[in-house]
Amino acid sequence: MNVLVYDNEEQIGIAAGYYMCGQVLAKPDSILGLATGSTPLKPYRHMIQLYENGSVDFSRVTTFNLDEYCHLDVNDENSYHSFMYKNLFDHINIPKENINFLNGNADNLEEECEQYEKKIRAMGGIDIQLLGIGSNGHIAFNEPSDSFQRWSHVVNLKESTIKDNSRFFNSVEDVPTQAVTMGIGSIMQAKRILIIALGENKAKAIRQLIDGNVTPQCPASVLQFHTDVTLMLDRGAASLL
Ligand code: PGA
Repeated sequence: MNVLVYDNEEQIGIAAGYYMCGQVLAKPDSILGLATGSTPLKPYRHMIQLYENGSVDFSRVTTFNLDEYCHLDVNDENSYHSFMYKNLFDHINIPKENINFLNGNADNLEEECEQYEKKIRAMGGIDIQLLGIGSNGHIAFNEPSDSFQRWSHVVNLKESTIKDNSRFFNSVEDVPTQAVTMGIGSIMQAKRILIIALGENKAKAIRQLIDGNVTPQCPASVLQFHTDVTLMLDRGAASLL
């Protein structure tokens, strides 16, 4: 794994923004796997800046987001759909029809997950997958459990994740308890992976990702088996290495 440690979030935003845009410059019709949460905010801001100054063109890019809450209106400010438009898509020239999300309000969620996998495969697979990591080692909404869930699926969120995410909602009761998420196999099939972690509360998960046993109790640990993973860490996230 390529482990890069930076002094602060600003520097990571610049480095990660260039990393993602470098992929698009090398292959203008790239398939990008995108993430939500606090972690990708600065990378997205830098990608927007690179677009605004004419350095990169997203008109042929396709995106697949990692996950979405179930039973939350896509127009709700806390949906991952809203997050992505507000923080990236509204500010770059990606065609709307090239943007893909799992639909957490689909009548048949299993069928929805199957179709999502099929579409990723039909497009030729994800060229680069951007990931955050949960303090419990989750990636996307693949929570610690007794087995790795391979493909996109419906998940009941863990108490710790609901608590982590409640900072965006009025109260912890408002946080959806279910989500649809790409699986570990979906993520592992991406050709390249960029994982970013900020803050000391991620340090334990990062140590396990890099040095620990590969176990579904820390879903991110499976990334040890991927051949092209870059980690961008701030000093807090790297503090136990
Ligand atoms: P965060 O979430 O970026 O808001 O810390 C990351 C994650 O839970 O995957």
